[in-house]
Amino acid sequence: MYSKLLIDFQTKFMQIKKFYGFIFSIALVAFLAISSFNSGSSTASTNPIDSSSSSRLITQASPGEFTLPPLPYAYDALDAYIDSQTMTLHHDKHHAGYVKNLNEAIAPYPDLQGLSIEELLRDLDNVPEEISATVRNNGGGHANHSMFWSIMTPDSPGQPTGEIAEAINTTFGDFESFKEKFNTAGKKRFGSGWAWLVMNEDGTLEVTSTGNQGSPLSEGQYPIMGNDVWEHAYYLKYQNNRGDYLDAWWNVINWDEVNNRLTTAKSWFE
Ligand SMILES: [Fe+2]
Repeated sequence: MYSKLLIDFQTKFMQIKKFYGFIFSIALVAFLAISSFNSGSSTASTNPIDSSSSSRLITQASPGEFTLPPLPYAYDALDAYIDSQTMTLHHDKHHAGYVKNLNEAIAPYPDLQGLSIEELLRDLDNVPEEISATVRNNGGGHANHSMFWSIMTPDSPGQPTGEIAEAINTTFGDFESFKEKFNTAGKKRFGSGWAWLVMNEDGTLEVTSTGNQGSPLSEGQYPIMGNDVWEHAYYLKYQNNRGDYLDAWWNVINWDEVNNRLTTAKSWFE
């Protein structure tokens, strides 16, 4: 009697052990598969305007091939200040065009391939004369717009934060004085161009402006933040009122990213 009960108990125990052993094995395999997938995904993420990497140099996906970085937010995310049609055309048509033209220009020049866009623009004297203007315009367009998308966000705090806030106060007195100086640079830019906050080689900050797609990198400066004052950036919503666009733009600044670029600017000159 007792021996039969013991045998039944041992049989049941072995069945339960096998069942839970099987479940445990399945769970272990699933866990390892998910871990492997996540690890591969994070390694493959090279979006140059991803918030964690946007301040790094904008390198090619493969030598000689620059790529259009995706917007880090929806086309209509900034709609209160920059309309979605403008964002769509600006990113998908204008910026995409700069990338295409740049790639076509440097394709026959293996020596230029493998350089970051910042290195190309810093050393324009090393670019062959026959493509120098194309690289200045389209390479500048690529670098400028990659920066532009990254320093905007629908979740702006409205005021500078962290180290850049202190640097602005030290250099310009206060945020309002800085904004006024920056907006004036944008308003006074005749035709198309950009207003900039740059770092000079000696570490000082300065408000400047470039025409067309000129980059501060070609002037020996590092662009910390810049606003696009080409009509394609604002005309659908603001028509000829560039000043209104310049005023509104401060509502969408990603100050965390501006701080990242301030850090990169310092290392650029080391
Ligand atoms: Fe633009």
